[in-house]
Amino acid sequence: MPLSQRSTLTQFLIEERRRYPEASGDFNALILDVALACKAIARSVAFGELGGVTGNHLAPRAAGMATAPLASVNAQGKVQKKLDVISNEMFLRANEWGGHLAGMVSEEMAEPYAIPANFPRGKYLLVFDPLDGSSNIDVNVSMGSIFSVLRAPAEVASGHRKLTVDDFLQPGTEQVAAGYAIYGPTTMFMLTVGSGVHGFTLDPNLGEFKLTHPDVMVPTETQEFAINASNSRFWEPPVKRYVDECLAGKTGPRGKDFNMRWIASMVAEAHRILMRGGVFLYPRDTKDPSTPGRLRLLYEANPIGLIMEQAGGRASTGRGPVLQVQPQGLHQPIGLVFGSKMEVQRIEQYHDEPLPLKRADFETPLFTERSLFRS
Ligand code: AHG
Ligand code: MN
Ligand code: MN
Repeated sequence: MPLSQRSTLTQFLIEERRRYPEASGDFNALILDVALACKAIARSVAFGELGGVTGNHLAPRAAGMATAPLASVNAQGKVQKKLDVISNEMFLRANEWGGHLAGMVSEEMAEPYAIPANFPRGKYLLVFDPLDGSSNIDVNVSMGSIFSVLRAPAEVASGHRKLTVDDFLQPGTEQVAAGYAIYGPTTMFMLTVGSGVHGFTLDPNLGEFKLTHPDVMVPTETQEFAINASNSRFWEPPVKRYVDECLAGKTGPRGKDFNMRWIASMVAEAHRILMRGGVFLYPRDTKDPSTPGRLRLLYEANPIGLIMEQAGGRASTGRGPVLQVQPQGLHQPIGLVFGSKMEVQRIEQYHDEPLPLKRADFETPLFTERSLFRS
């Protein structure tokens, strides 16, 4: 298609801004800086082994250390890949200088990153997972970056008060923009600024994101689900029931066959669901009593949740809308279910309902030959 017929991300943002003449333009520049970080990460990912970016990031070697250094771990105790650390640096460098931000929070940093004194502060906060699905680096499977933009309190933006952890603890409903980049066979940038979800594909010749998927909508019904089934013994009964009913297929209560996918890269699952429908579950489970779920509220669940809702889908903790959860901590884990609206609502309904009686329940003495309830 000729150049003139597709908007670039820059053109799209300028045209969106024209609809709000009072807007300062800071916001557009911020989104373009985020997109620049994503383009830089896409290049690193594309070089893989040739760029020396695969494998674990090693902790700095202490003086006199006898053994080889071990892999570094992040604030959540997860091993850091080299590309986790590189991607985090790319996000910081691309976004700290522009004067649009008052601070940043990332999966890879225990504490908020305040804007260095030599750069102006701005009125937004940026929260991100610099590389999602990073366990897939070494096997050449899709990964992504996820981001969320929040407003900074006015006194922090103006420099009258220092940035605090509490400034970031805003429910997902407060997000002014959210999106992700996916590093797959093509690199794409999916964005919502609160008026639908729009998808851009990186044109490798121009180094520009071009609008290829305007107004993406999640199909309301689906026959595809995604869950890490190796955790099934830790699932709560409503999740077990939902998955069992999917697996029962045509002859079960759903009356249709389901397909299952698990990429272990939430961005890639979210992207598939945006493109062809489906439901994703990383529910609260009993695997590790100290963490109710694996995914993080601020920089994984909330941005993907806003994207899903803006695309006509739904995002939930299993019990209610994830965007309404009041965060208690920067790295707070949460159960997450998202995708086609009808499926997510069904899962919520199963969490509300008492469990249906199973055949075994009817085989108790109350239901036997001489019982009251014999049919
Ligand atoms: P990250 O790479 O940022 O740590 O996130 C990985 C997440 C998510 O992308 C994915 O859905 C999930 O972890 C995979 O979990 P399993 O290892 O249980 O498959
Ligand atoms: Mn992640
Ligand atoms: Mn990550």
